Amino acid sequence: MLPETRYKEEESAGFQVHWLREAASTNSLALECGEDACVFVADMQTRGRGRRGAVWHSAPGAGLWMSIALRRPPQDLGFIAALATRDAVAQSLRLGAGHALALKWPNDLLAADRKVCGVLVEHRAGMTAVGIGLNLAQKTADFPEELRETAVSLATVFGVTPARDTVLHALLGAYRARLSLDGAAVFEEWRAALNIVGRTVARGALTGVVEAVERDGALRMRVGKECVRVDAGTVEIQEGCR
Ligand code: BTN
Repeated sequence: MLPETRYKEEESAGFQVHWLREAASTNSLALECGEDACVFVADMQTRGRGRRGAVWHSAPGAGLWMSIALRRPPQDLGFIAALATRDAVAQSLRLGAGHALALKWPNDLLAADRKVCGVLVEHRAGMTAVGIGLNLAQKTADFPEELRETAVSLATVFGVTPARDTVLHALLGAYRARLSLDGAAVFEEWRAALNIVGRTVARGALTGVVEAVERDGALRMRVGKECVRVDAGTVEIQEGCR
């Protein structure tokens, strides 16, 4: 059943897009919808969630809060989200080569070294929800105090707020194009964009050099004499990486 707050529907790049005034979490809607290639976009979320149990602040009109529902396993879908969002932002803002956007492991997008977008991939009963939260318009003071040093919006970095529907359509086009590619090619594009192999990174109490990014997205790190595998989480890059 579709949410009552729905106010627009359209097709874009082979996805059925539902625009909503409000949702608890668009990821929940995507997990529950039971349909392939559905997209939910909410003006605001009341219970937006981030990775590792974090709250995702989703104020009305401040960002693009969306989820893509796919009836397939989650492999590679988060990689595609990060790459597609980067390309959609660059296209919407007509950014040239050498722009300030960079991927950060696992699936964050940075603008001028701060987090402008996060991706949450969830899988349940054959359905995968690819949730994308892209900060468009917030001023620094709009973020909760604990995020003000690390989070940013496109408006702050580039001085202009792209239209939400322009970014959405560009993103879905870029997402669709990569969905039909071989998974290994997508993985290789994502791995190269991370630019993390050989860097010294810290994750919690662990500091080490990244030796490889494994096919499932985990990092293989050298910590002293140990080789440690690190699943998705937040790493602080310590060697002037970005
Ligand atoms: C992260 O912690 O970096 C991931 C944030 C993902 C946020 C998006 S906003 C749309 C979708 N719905 C949610 O509840 N979360 C994701």
